[in-house]
Amino acid sequence: MIKIFLASDHGGYQLKQRIHQHLEKQAYELVDLGCNGEDKCDYPTFGKKAAELVLANPGSFAIVICGTGIGISIAVNRVKGARCALANTVELAELGRQHNGANILALGARTKVYDDPIEIIEAFLKAEVDPAERHVRRRTQLDA
Ligand code: RB5
Repeated sequence: MIKIFLASDHGGYQLKQRIHQHLEKQAYELVDLGCNGEDKCDYPTFGKKAAELVLANPGSFAIVICGTGIGISIAVNRVKGARCALANTVELAELGRQHNGANILALGARTKVYDDPIEIIEAFLKAEVDPAERHVRRRTQLDA
């Protein structure tokens, strides 16, 4: 069963709960790393933890959320091998997976909504990594 790690800071907490409720009804092994309420906390801690767990569990994904999605995506992308796409549309979520091989999706909970976040995560989880040579070459360069 595919493992999905969920993590947020306080700014992303409400949206994380909504996504948790959606994903727990599906055939995923869902691991919620917190945070566990709206008390202020620090997004770097949660982003780093999610990234390390995705790398330690090949084939798994993470969805990480903060107010903008920016801080937590930067935290994730500092972990070598993690590829986090900050996507506030279905199109960006699909392209982040297809072209960039993103294994982690970041969402902003307090910014303008373009597509429903549930549709964004569904698109991300269903998209396949594009095996075209040019994309493989570029992804390889990312990890070099
Ligand atoms: C928290 O106030 C906020 O700074 C955080 O959620 C995020 O938006 C940072 O990028």
